[in-house]
Amino acid sequence: MLFLNACKNRNGDRPPVWLMRQAGRYLPEYRTIRATKSFVEMCTDPDVAVEVSLQPFRRFGMDAVIVFYDILFLPGVMGAPLVFTDEGPRFERPLRTSADFDRLGRADLTSLDPSKGTGAILESLRRLRREVPREAAVLGFAGAPFTLAAYLVEGRLGQGVDRMRRFLNEEPRLAHRLLELLAQATGEYLSLQAAAGADALQLFDTWAGLLDRKDYAEFALPYEKIALEAVARAGKPSILFVNGCTHILEDMAASGASVLSLDWRLPLRTARERVGAGLGLQGNLDPAALFAAPDAVRQRTSSLLDAMSSDPGYVVNLGHGVLPETPPESVEAFVEAVKARKGVRTAALDPARGLP
Ligand code: CP3
Repeated sequence: MLFLNACKNRNGDRPPVWLMRQAGRYLPEYRTIRATKSFVEMCTDPDVAVEVSLQPFRRFGMDAVIVFYDILFLPGVMGAPLVFTDEGPRFERPLRTSADFDRLGRADLTSLDPSKGTGAILESLRRLRREVPREAAVLGFAGAPFTLAAYLVEGRLGQGVDRMRRFLNEEPRLAHRLLELLAQATGEYLSLQAAAGADALQLFDTWAGLLDRKDYAEFALPYEKIALEAVARAGKPSILFVNGCTHILEDMAASGASVLSLDWRLPLRTARERVGAGLGLQGNLDPAALFAAPDAVRQRTSSLLDAMSSDPGYVVNLGHGVLPETPPESVEAFVEAVKARKGVRTAALDPARGLP
């Protein structure tokens, strides 16, 4: 499987390719279903979630299929009422005090009842692993504790995490209790996804890049480690994504993740020089570059491949999720440009660098 080979630093003729948010509104077949169902209904009905996860795979044949769900359902089932509006998700009662914190509980992670548990994602993963050909990986995922806590504290997120950064300073002890609770639940949740059939698990710490290095080391990294350790114990590779991670790359490399998923700001070669060999690197075309004409997309993708062609642990992806109005032809050009690569032999395998 190309994807798992990359996680073990064993890329062959070409690296694997997939896209964050590869299922979604840019696809007309998604919009057809979305016209009759809410986003929550789509995620919590495994029939629909499996269908939507497969839509981009059928069209473009990526090397990985990510299950259709959302990172915010986990805190949702832990007792934080959540709504998805046209402006995005919102927690109805932002968490600011220890009384708010006390209302959160341990999640019932396996109930298929969408109001009670996160079992729908587990069922979708089981079905996906049966339906997707063995050559392609099935990916599970979760939000990292810092990013989940930021949503809980802010209620909704737009530009920044000012309220969350204030909370870390006003209520550091409460912040750590919240992060610890989320980390334990996230670790358990990812292990269940591994057992349900996910070949690898991605942890999204989308907002942690807004912290400085010291705060990242105190409030994000230790809790990423707890969740990523649970993935390692389940025997599966893990991917860690942080948006805006140039200043914390070396710290991320110490998280225990098998692969680091990078935003578009830092050239991948520079990232490789900074983290050394052994870790996988995933990324990092600017999602906005998909609004260029397909030829330009092919060129930009080729440049990425040229830069990383001798890298045995490279996974081609965007630097963040596909944007809603992206032309499907550009996604096709992106995937095709990777799949058309033949004979890009990677460096000889050094067994000392491979993962167990
Ligand atoms: O990648 C995939 O295809 C799998 C599904 C997936 C979704 N969300 C579906 C979704 C994944 C992996 C996520 C992760 C997620 N969700 C993150 C981390 C990654 C990132 O993008 O930074 C975050 C921060 C969220 C929270 C969230 N969910 C936001 C901010 C929004 C609104 C923004 C938007 O694009 O509308 C959502 C809703 C959401 N999650 C949609 C999808 C396809 C749009 C739903 C719709 O209205 O159809």
